[in-house]
Amino acid sequence: MTDTRTLLHPTRLGALVLPNRLVMAPLTRTRTGAERRPGPLNVEYYRQRATAGLLVSEGVAISPEAVGYLDTPGLWREDQVEGWRAVTEAVHAGGGRIAAQLWHVGRISHTSFHDGAAPVSSTSRAADARSYTAAGYEPVSTPRALATEELARVAADYRHAAVAAREAGFDAVEVHGANGYLIEQFLTSGVNDRTDAYGGDVAGRARLLGEVVDAVVEGFGGADRVGIRLSVGNGTSGATDDDPAGLLAHVGGVLQQRGLAFVHYVEPVTPEGRRTDLTAALRSTWHGPVVLAQGFTPDSAAEAVREGRADAVAFGRAFIANPDLPERVRLGAALNEPDSSTFYGTGARGYTDYPTLPQRAA
Ligand SMILES: Cc1cc2nc3c(=O)[nH]c(=O)nc-3n(C[C@H](O)[C@H](O)[C@H](O)COP(=O)(O)O)c2cc1C
Repeated sequence: MTDTRTLLHPTRLGALVLPNRLVMAPLTRTRTGAERRPGPLNVEYYRQRATAGLLVSEGVAISPEAVGYLDTPGLWREDQVEGWRAVTEAVHAGGGRIAAQLWHVGRISHTSFHDGAAPVSSTSRAADARSYTAAGYEPVSTPRALATEELARVAADYRHAAVAAREAGFDAVEVHGANGYLIEQFLTSGVNDRTDAYGGDVAGRARLLGEVVDAVVEGFGGADRVGIRLSVGNGTSGATDDDPAGLLAHVGGVLQQRGLAFVHYVEPVTPEGRRTDLTAALRSTWHGPVVLAQGFTPDSAAEAVREGRADAVAFGRAFIANPDLPERVRLGAALNEPDSSTFYGTGARGYTDYPTLPQRAA
């Protein structure tokens, strides 16, 4: 068994110095209300988890167009900046660092969020997916393919959100390039059916990603505080690709050129639990820090770090249930079990009421 204390060694992601290698994965919790603005309950949730080496926020919509679910937060209005500032101040007061995950859902959305208009995508074909709307779970709506001329405006929306993230006191931003959302809708051959310069070969399909990254670097003010999350090879919400290794190698090169702080990769795992070798394809061209995610335990995470496959490892469900995850790893203590029935919803239950070790003992 690998010594999990490896995870408690410091590391560096660009300009960010992490006291440990346990990253809190981005986790949508649908608790920021119709205003899509963090309040005191959200501040408390992030404050509780400030001992993570790095916290990545839940997906934060960059613009009204970028929204796809009920009660998820945004970062396009001044009052949202104020709401997030209270979060970043609480995390900093607890000694932590936090990145904003900048999110555009693309076609994983519903007309009810857009005054009846169609969501936008690389394509006009609908995903086989559902969105949580005011009427409950609904199939996502058929999108409208973005016109070539609109893509500069999409990149500008990302830039605007990156400026807002800086104002809100975030230490970094993570571009959400994963999980079948807008950027992956451009990246993957199974979704992108465009005939313009933003489709076709890998260079065309990765063009929007490169332009978005440039806009975010400009907006936030430095590549060494910008990371990106990728999940190529998982096929989430129909985002399949006929050559995921080739796509990852190309995208890795695009990111290497820009000198980003980190690449956060949702590593595909087979149904039998075997990790695929796609991380090696990414690492063939990307030589900076890698954060791996998906199904890790402290043991398997320590092994990934020891093998040099990961510089840090993100934990999703474990951080939902264990606000003091680094301390539990340090002590080799048992973990609380997450309750999936309260992952999404409202209120403190299943959100801010998971006990720390001393609270459980008391
Ligand atoms: C409730 C929930 C919400 C999630 N929200 C996001 C999100 O906003 N952005 C994102 O990139 N991934 C999101 N994910 C995926 C997680 O970041 C993570 O990749 C996934 O949970 C697998 O890691 P785990 O096995 O450590 O939980 C979410 C997962 C869960 C369970």
